[in-house]
Amino acid sequence: MIHLLRVPIIRREEPAPGHVELWLQSPELATSTPGQFADVVTEGMLRRPISFSRIDRANHQVAMLLQVVGDGTRWLAAQRPGTMLDVMGPLGNGFLPPAPARDWCLVGGGVGIPPLYAAVQAWGTHTASRPTVILGARDQQLLLLVDEFQALGCVVEITTDNGTRGRRGTVEAPLCDWLDSHPDGQVYACGPTPMLASVARLTQGRTGIFLALEQRMGCGIGACLACVIPGYGVSGQAGYLRVCTDGPVFRSEELIFE
Ligand SMILES: Cc1cc2nc3c(=O)[nH]c(=O)nc-3n(C[C@H](O)[C@H](O)[C@H](O)COP(=O)(O)OP(=O)(O)OC[C@H]3O[C@@H](n4cnc5c(N)ncnc54)[C@H](O)[C@@H]3O)c2cc1C
Ligand code: FES
Repeated sequence: MIHLLRVPIIRREEPAPGHVELWLQSPELATSTPGQFADVVTEGMLRRPISFSRIDRANHQVAMLLQVVGDGTRWLAAQRPGTMLDVMGPLGNGFLPPAPARDWCLVGGGVGIPPLYAAVQAWGTHTASRPTVILGARDQQLLLLVDEFQALGCVVEITTDNGTRGRRGTVEAPLCDWLDSHPDGQVYACGPTPMLASVARLTQGRTGIFLALEQRMGCGIGACLACVIPGYGVSGQAGYLRVCTDGPVFRSEELIFE
């Protein structure tokens, strides 16, 4: 169920340069599934889609980890505990849990990393083995939640474009290695579209591959078509999918990368 809410910020942290994590107190948002998002009103009444980095059902809290890229995220990042935010959510479809008997790997880039952390928090102990997490960034300063994934028992592999931490290059090389050694493994990915296209190509023919898109959005509720992408609908015909309501999490085979 989608709610229009006014929710208080109860905590604010700065986990990396240019990044802020805001904790919100909200029983409604705390019912979210990892991969779902909320549309938050920012300066000038513009709504911005942000996913949840943490979902704490027991304490009715969620967190959002923001990267400041423009006016909306700058305004949000400047808000302090005690401020009330206008939020619509939870929105969209989240990830499905991994099959308990299968190994799983999470591949994240940039602000695609936070919803994957929420997924490991929710399901990391439900599977036979702890997941492998492959994190990619342009530079080591942009890596998020590395210590937090390790604290949850994940094997963490890091790549940076400039080689400042981990392997130099993209997430492709460690993902290929993992896929070779886990022929029945599942993959959950979130990040820039070229990264998701690589994951889709490398995992072709496998089942249980989930890709979360971070398309630019308008209304967030399926009405404006600002977020459409090519894909296969329920009929199996090629057409367009709305990232806000059909996604943002899709099965890999639903998407067409051009
Ligand atoms: C489902 C979903 C979940 C998201 N989760 C998070 C999250 O957890 N944390 C987070 O920091 N951000 C997240 N984003 C991205 C966030 O919505 C954008 O960064 C934000 O809308 C930018 O608003 P702005 O006003 O600050 O910048 P704008 O002024 O709107 O844009 C500044 C720059 O960022 C680019 N940009 C804006 N939106 C996007 C986008 N979606 N993808 C790529 N480039 C973009 C613009 O092209 C422009 O160059 C998510 C987006 C979606 C759709
Ligand atoms: S953002 Fe309006 S239809 Fe998706």
